[in-house]
Amino acid sequence: MIKSSFFKSTCILAMIIFFSACKQEKKKRVINFPKTDLAAENLIPKPLKTIPTQGGFALDEYTAIYTSSNATGFEAVGKFLSKKIKEKTDLDLQVNVDEIPNLETVIYINQSDSVALGNSEAYQLYITPDSVILNSNSAEGAFRGIQTIRQLIPETSNDTLATNKIWTIPTGKIIDEPQFEYRGAMLDVARHFFSVKDVKKFIDLLAYYKYNTLHLHLTDDQGWRIEIKSWPLLTTVGGSTEVGGEAGGFYTQEEYKDIVTYAAERHIVIVPEVDMPGHTNAASVSYPILNGNGKTPQLYEGTQVGKSTFDTRKDTVYTFIDDVVREISAITPGPYFHIGGDESHVTKKNDYIYFVEKVEKIVHKYNKRMIGWDEIGQANIDASSISHFWSNKDNAMKAVSKGMKVIMSPAKKAYLDMQYDSLSKHGLHWAAYIPTDTAYNWAPETYEGIPLKNILGLEAPLWSETISNIEELEYLAFPRAIGYAELSWTTEENRNWENYKKRLANQAPFLDRMNVKYYHSPLIDWKKSKYTFTEIEKD
Ligand code: ACM
Repeated sequence: MIKSSFFKSTCILAMIIFFSACKQEKKKRVINFPKTDLAAENLIPKPLKTIPTQGGFALDEYTAIYTSSNATGFEAVGKFLSKKIKEKTDLDLQVNVDEIPNLETVIYINQSDSVALGNSEAYQLYITPDSVILNSNSAEGAFRGIQTIRQLIPETSNDTLATNKIWTIPTGKIIDEPQFEYRGAMLDVARHFFSVKDVKKFIDLLAYYKYNTLHLHLTDDQGWRIEIKSWPLLTTVGGSTEVGGEAGGFYTQEEYKDIVTYAAERHIVIVPEVDMPGHTNAASVSYPILNGNGKTPQLYEGTQVGKSTFDTRKDTVYTFIDDVVREISAITPGPYFHIGGDESHVTKKNDYIYFVEKVEKIVHKYNKRMIGWDEIGQANIDASSISHFWSNKDNAMKAVSKGMKVIMSPAKKAYLDMQYDSLSKHGLHWAAYIPTDTAYNWAPETYEGIPLKNILGLEAPLWSETISNIEELEYLAFPRAIGYAELSWTTEENRNWENYKKRLANQAPFLDRMNVKYYHSPLIDWKKSKYTFTEIEKD
């Protein structure tokens, strides 16, 4: 199957190259390129298998991109690649244009039904001096594959005898697919609000490292950040402030849809979280009828947790939750709805369990799969629901015993808001200090004995008590989020800190070009780049 689809692609390419060669005499280009381990230099996450050959593919103004024409989403992937190549090299590569004078090399993004590409995110790359062929079963796999192509393109053109600028990609073959189906980051937009523009930049960075999920923590004690049309005070009152007392903010449903669409164009799913029955002060200030802690709720700008709860025995609370889940689910195409469920310290245990079981039914009514922080494992819930392991192994194991899947976010290893060390400018350290190597050097596959077959994937949460703008977000998230991308894509046998840290060092030119204010971990010998922060426009 692989051979036949490869053969089909090769024939198409041969025709393209033959016709263009008939029309023109080729310009002579000199590519002296050593045999290079494709993965050794830049690729994060490290692919499953790379087979280098000796030679170079010349990416230049005589290169064009072609895609399968009748496969859903493939042309969009080709156009996305062309746009990113333009941003990096200033080359304007045509996509699916029939007659291109002087065409010399092609990138062909091919839909293949090969059984080896059964995983919808799997892809194979065949790079020869004339062509880059990317095979995948779906546009999602093709999108992951073009991230590999982007990473293989050097930041600067090389010095050849040719008259034009050439970016040389080493030749060889890459066979790749992810280990885990859920590869996420989380952003807390409740403690501090982040604009649509900031969220989009974060999505762009996650996409480059093959993340497929962004979980938005949309509500907490300090703020309610998503418009609910049937309960308007949630945002006008509950969204009016944030930690530290500045004006907060919220996404209108149109803005949220814009984020969802932007993420979907990058094959990233948005997971909305409405945290309850605790972490609900902002909702109860907006509508005091929801409140169950016996006190008059007031807007809260501090950082303590565990003081709020909904009144879990009141029907109005479930009418409210039905409206919220209905409105958010209607604008969330992804399969998940996260109900929070953590740190409900002032909810009685029986009330908590009663609540989670009722809310699960509401989530199912709107055709979503429920995720909740690991405490939900105490309730009698369905095997289709997902435990989000952050702290309590016993709770996660209770979920496992019900046949539930688990998302791994142990705070001691995977929380992006933990400080790197005691000198870190932002962040907390209640769970641990997490330097760049500690973030990488653990195995979600075996952590705390959660069985591998139950692990849906890995998520790196970024809580925002101590950060209030994109630069601070970037300081905590990068470089650690890059390591989590490798932990969730690449198998344990294929990971190695010494090898990874060299590839991480080579991310500096990309991060600088993207104007990312990453933490310059002293553990990494960061590659120098020609970019400075100020040269880049922020769009
Ligand atoms: C959590 O950190 N409270 C999930």
